[in-house]
This record gives sequence, C-alpha cells and structure tokens, in this order.
Amino acid sequence: MSELKTTIQELIKYRRSVFPKDYIDKPIAKNILVELLKCAVQAPTHKLTQPWRFTVFTGEGLIKLADELKKQYKASVSKEDYSKKKGESIRKKILQSGAVIAICMKESGKIPKWEELAAVASAVQNMALAASAQEIGSYWSSSKLINELDSFLNLSKNESCLGLFYMGYHKEKQSLGKRSPIDEKVTWVE
Ligand SMILES: Cc1cc2nc3c(=O)[nH]c(=O)nc-3n(C[C@H](O)[C@H](O)[C@H](O)COP(=O)(O)O)c2cc1C
Repeated sequence: MSELKTTIQELIKYRRSVFPKDYIDKPIAKNILVELLKCAVQAPTHKLTQPWRFTVFTGEGLIKLADELKKQYKASVSKEDYSKKKGESIRKKILQSGAVIAICMKESGKIPKWEELAAVASAVQNMALAASAQEIGSYWSSSKLINELDSFLNLSKNESCLGLFYMGYHKEKQSLGKRSPIDEKVTWVE
C-alpha cells in the first residue's frame, strides 16, 4: 500500500467529531479556512449543480451568531420552558469555537433533492477530513434552531440551512470511532 493511501485511510478512520467544550482558545486563520472550503467544493455533484452554500463566522461574526441562536432559542420556547442556562450554553458553544460555518444548500431543481443533500454532505465530509488533517476538530450540528436562521443567513426560497459546522483546535487524543463490524452492513455477491 502506498504511503499516501495509508495517510488517507488513517485520516478517515481517525477523524472524530470534536465538540466546542474541548476546543482550545486559538483562532483559525482565514487562509486555512479558505483551504478547507476549497476542499469542500471538490465533492462530487450530479450535473455540477454545486448546491453547497457556506456562511463562515469568525471573530465578531461568532458573537452575532451566538446572539442570534440564543434569540431563536428564546423565541422557540414558552416563557415557562425557557432556561437561561440553556440559552447561555447555546451561546457559549459558538464563542468557544475557532470558527462556525453554516452549511446551506441551494436546490437547483435539475436533480432530486436527495442528490443535492448527498453532494452537500460529501462536501462537509471533505471539509471535516481536511480540518482533521490540520488538527482542527469539527462537528456537524443539526440542532432544530437551524430552521429559524433563514433570514439571518439571507437564504432565498430554494435555499435551506442543514446545520452548523463547529470548528476548533483541540487537545483530544486520536481515537477510532465506535462502529458495527462491516459484516453487519455489507452483503457480498461473489
Ligand atoms: C448530518 C449530521 C448531523 C449531526 N448532528 C449532530 C447534532 O446535532 N449533535 C451532535 O452532538 N452530533 C451531531 N452529529 C455528529 C454525530 O453525533 C457524530 O458524527 C457521531 O456521534 C459519530 O461520531 P464521529 O463523528 O466521531 O465518528 C451529526 C452528524 C451528521 C452527519
């Protein structure tokens, strides 16, 4: 097996979701974010629709996003159910991140929606792997609050937000993910 293959396989196997509580206080340079986004957009895309749209939050931008999410959380629950602690924790997760990218999708109408979703998910995985190679941890959050961000993200009718991609440098140890053996998931026809 060539050296490159080993590196890619290890990168894939050892990529893990890393959460904001484990991020260290270190900003992610813009040139690195640009590189990660360039990796994202190399994902396969049927009919070259390139449905991915990204909004990148860094620095002061993180404060705007944190405030918006807290506001949307407050608006989404009744006065009785509102938890100040939860509102603060939503805000804190954003502020603990080196960058957060809103993962969005623009439907072209040329292919089924699931194909656009699959392309965006492939782009996100590219980005997660490229980040992992830079020792930047990340995770895809699909909190239901993402459904309330259309106007904040200036999304048009055929656009939607699929999640928030949290990123940060961290000191977590490398680990393999828990997965069922492939025998349970694979049928061989030989
Ligand atoms: C589409 C998608 C949405 C996800 N949403 C969340 C989420 O809202 N909250 C969360 O804690 N993890 C979320 N995750 C991350 C998973 O929890 C994580 O991938 C899983 O636990 C496996 O861990 P690993 O990424 O380290 O292999 C999401 C992952 C994907 C692919």
